[in-house]
Amino acid sequence: MKITVVGAGAVGASCAEYIALKDFASEVVLLDIKEGFAEGKAMDLMQTASLNGFDTKITGVTGDYSQTAGSHVAVITSGIPRKPGMTREELIGINAGIVKDVATQLVAHSPEVILIVVSNPMDTMTYLAHKSLGLPKHRIIGMGGALDSARFKYRLAEALGAPISDVDGMVIGGHSDTGMVPLIRLATRNSMPVHSFLGQAQLDDIVEQTKVGGATLTKLLGTSAWYAPGAAVSSMVQAIACDQKKVFPCSVMLDGQYGFEDICLGVPVVIGKNGIEQIIEIELSPEEKDKMKDSAEGVRSVNDLLQL
Ligand code: 2OP
Repeated sequence: MKITVVGAGAVGASCAEYIALKDFASEVVLLDIKEGFAEGKAMDLMQTASLNGFDTKITGVTGDYSQTAGSHVAVITSGIPRKPGMTREELIGINAGIVKDVATQLVAHSPEVILIVVSNPMDTMTYLAHKSLGLPKHRIIGMGGALDSARFKYRLAEALGAPISDVDGMVIGGHSDTGMVPLIRLATRNSMPVHSFLGQAQLDDIVEQTKVGGATLTKLLGTSAWYAPGAAVSSMVQAIACDQKKVFPCSVMLDGQYGFEDICLGVPVVIGKNGIEQIIEIELSPEEKDKMKDSAEGVRSVNDLLQL
């Protein structure tokens, strides 16, 4: 199975590394426009293979999409990351043109490819990919909820003083500081609701810390995070490659589900060999529904900036 990762920056390289470490793909092609950069990252990663025990072949290429031909899954991480103080939405001007071009080239060389969009503003970039390519809806997936949910579980485990493997939780809505909807009502510690263990102030704090999870790291690192984004997207790639039928909240084109149409927004979906295999509609509380409406409005206002 061949996987392409476009963008050999920190997120793309982490993604390629985690895919290789999980050792489920025969080949990962890492593509970047910066001369020699992807080749260098690929060579460096390949020199970890004997140490880390993987057989996945990682190849780096500069701008040559013919090398990506026959990819089963392609991940788009291209574009600029945010700097401290920037919102993801501010990246739209530069990233829209890049994402459209990259997505078009990928599909031209791999007509059956399943695309995972990581570039920000992610919900709008996923929408743009849908609008410009016209592929079946199940083949374009935005990565946000898997990452935001991992950050939610980290915050929950920290507050509970519990191991992360005992904690479950999900974040739906837009992948933005204001648009995320962490479903605290449904979060559990070993099947027990977390509100049995934590007070309202702690729960509110977990929700707030989760929503600004990316911004907190951007401030600390001076650029956008990469380990958790790379790990989140590699888990989605694995779910497709290994037909795992795993549930992740992902940004998908909605067609009436949750009362929304013609918008990409994070909701729980089953991911398997065909990409999105099912959109799961769970019953939301009136308060959660209101938050989803606000989130959708935020995403739509960014979508309106696209020149489609
Ligand atoms: C983040 O939240 C890259 O948007 C990504 O870290």
